[in-house]
Amino acid sequence: MKLLHIDSSVLADNSVSRKLTAQIVAEWSANHAGTTVDYLDLATQAPSHLSADSLGFRLPAGADLSDVQKSENAISEALVQQFLAADVIVVGAPLYNFSIPSQLKAWIDRVAQVGRTFKYTDKGPVGLATGKTVIVASTRGGIYSTSEGGQAMEHQESYLKVVFGFFGITDVRIVRAEGVSMGDAAKATALSAAQADVAAATSQKAANQDVATIAA
Ligand SMILES: Cc1cc2nc3c(=O)[nH]c(=O)nc-3n(C[C@H](O)[C@H](O)[C@H](O)COP(=O)(O)O)c2cc1C
Repeated sequence: MKLLHIDSSVLADNSVSRKLTAQIVAEWSANHAGTTVDYLDLATQAPSHLSADSLGFRLPAGADLSDVQKSENAISEALVQQFLAADVIVVGAPLYNFSIPSQLKAWIDRVAQVGRTFKYTDKGPVGLATGKTVIVASTRGGIYSTSEGGQAMEHQESYLKVVFGFFGITDVRIVRAEGVSMGDAAKATALSAAQADVAAATSQKAANQDVATIAA
């Protein structure tokens, strides 16, 4: 089983989501023998935001690409291959300004490729990255999950569920620490809730595990 571990927090050792993703990966590996881990740190290795040069993968096959477009295409291709190769993707996703860090959005913009992660049919879009499990380590300064107003304000968990669902991934598990900026007691409660989420998310089988076991 291949696990892709992605961090996107810019807070280095002070990051709550980085601690949670490290713990998720450790517990997943302990519970699922034979897991191999690939790591992507988007705080230091994020692709650039989309531009005329990096949109090459959306141009028609056979288009005459500049050297810059070719090298940007190679970056997108490596990222989409890394994503498609993974059975399980663990994503550290802090809430920044009601959404995800722009580094994580830049990664999504590179892997959202027609014909690779989704396609359009006469019946609408179809996800092509099916059978994967995603575990999101969601960290938030405030509390959003317990009220309709809060749920409407956050575009982090809700967005990630939409985008991974669009890619065909239905098994999206959330490990949540929210309220971490609301004082020591709230932070302790948040971290303790997250521990329970880690145990639940990492003790289940991967979405494709039964199929893989049968195939083996
Ligand atoms: C740039 C920035 C923007 C933030 N925006 C929000 C926000 O909109 N809502 C919120 O509740 N917390 C916000 N926070 C607090 C973070 O969600 C919180 O510190 C969380 O722990 C970040 O995850 P990390 O520690 O892994 O970076 C923000 C923090 C930073 C650094």
